Amino acid sequence: MDITNDIKYIGVNDHDIDLFEGQYVVENGMAYNSYVIVDEKIAVFDTVDARFTEEWLNNLRAVIGEKSPDYLIIQHMEPDHSANIAKFMEIYKDTVIVATAKSFAMMKQFFGNDFKDHQMVVKEGDTLSLGKHELTFITAPMVHWPEVMVTYDSFDKVLFSADAFGKFGALDVEEDWACEARRYYIGIVGKYGTQVQALLKKAAKLDIQTICSLHGPILTENLEYYLNLYNIWSSYSVESEGVMVAYTSIYGNTKKAVEELADMLKAKGCPKVVVCDLAREDMAEAVEDAFRYGKLVLATTTYNNDIFPFMREFINHLTERNYQNRTVGLIENGSWAPTAAKKMAQMLEGSKNLTFTDTTVKILSALNDDSRAQLEALAEELK
Ligand code: FEO
Repeated sequence: MDITNDIKYIGVNDHDIDLFEGQYVVENGMAYNSYVIVDEKIAVFDTVDARFTEEWLNNLRAVIGEKSPDYLIIQHMEPDHSANIAKFMEIYKDTVIVATAKSFAMMKQFFGNDFKDHQMVVKEGDTLSLGKHELTFITAPMVHWPEVMVTYDSFDKVLFSADAFGKFGALDVEEDWACEARRYYIGIVGKYGTQVQALLKKAAKLDIQTICSLHGPILTENLEYYLNLYNIWSSYSVESEGVMVAYTSIYGNTKKAVEELADMLKAKGCPKVVVCDLAREDMAEAVEDAFRYGKLVLATTTYNNDIFPFMREFINHLTERNYQNRTVGLIENGSWAPTAAKKMAQMLEGSKNLTFTDTTVKILSALNDDSRAQLEALAEELK
């Protein structure tokens, strides 16, 4: 695939993966992108997952034939991109690896070898000329590991963005960008909003016409759309008006309550209500929706003097990703000593700028007139 006259795609699609990064379900697979710039000098950008060595090397040979790459540019050391560095260096023994000092330290850790005689250590603002193409390296720590850098090619106005602007899904499957890019971003990079904001500020100074991420499609049009979504996500702003209701239910009574709440919200004109059963639906999708909408309702049962495990896991996912700037309502259920609302509020104590609703709904085993009235009051606050 040609990205420009000189920049070619040499990545691979993975439809065999069970869980990406050990936890994310990827129904449409995953793409590990890799690129090569063919100029007076040849530069390869990143490798691919360990299971695709031959396919990737064949893709590279299809572009460069018997020539040898002059540079292997390593922007990120997570193994979905770095796994083939040592194998590449066994074949292309004279290639110079271009990476940050932290990347070389990680190479030593992963491969027992930091390729001492083939290193070009780069830092913020360093440049490398390939001929027509002048590359500038821009550090992007914690987007999504500390060693990360991105690369700007001023000749073709391309930003090689490492994990940033990536998404789940292989490139041979057509699907909406935002849905799987959001689930990817919130799940994998969501904790590092401040660092993504710093990268966006650096990117704003560049004339970018194409974004080449390490996952997902090459972005060539309407880049403002993608940059704007990244700005919303990384600043923990509200993307969509509406209420996300996340619940667990053991015998159906808490489920009945959230269904009634959803009906009340819709009847009151709430623009969007999303209801998620945390025990049965994709956790990453639930986490994504909590960050997408401005209002969140958490409904769970008291369980072992704590809360039901899936809700505990869900709230942990939120807090470890710096969940903030939202309105939160709580619904608890218990048959003898309901404490779930208190426990949930405690778990969210360290989260910045959360506004709790005045109403907290207390269900004693099953809905009754009192708890229905509380649901109605909660719906009125959140509509
Ligand atoms: Fe696609 Fe952070 O690795």
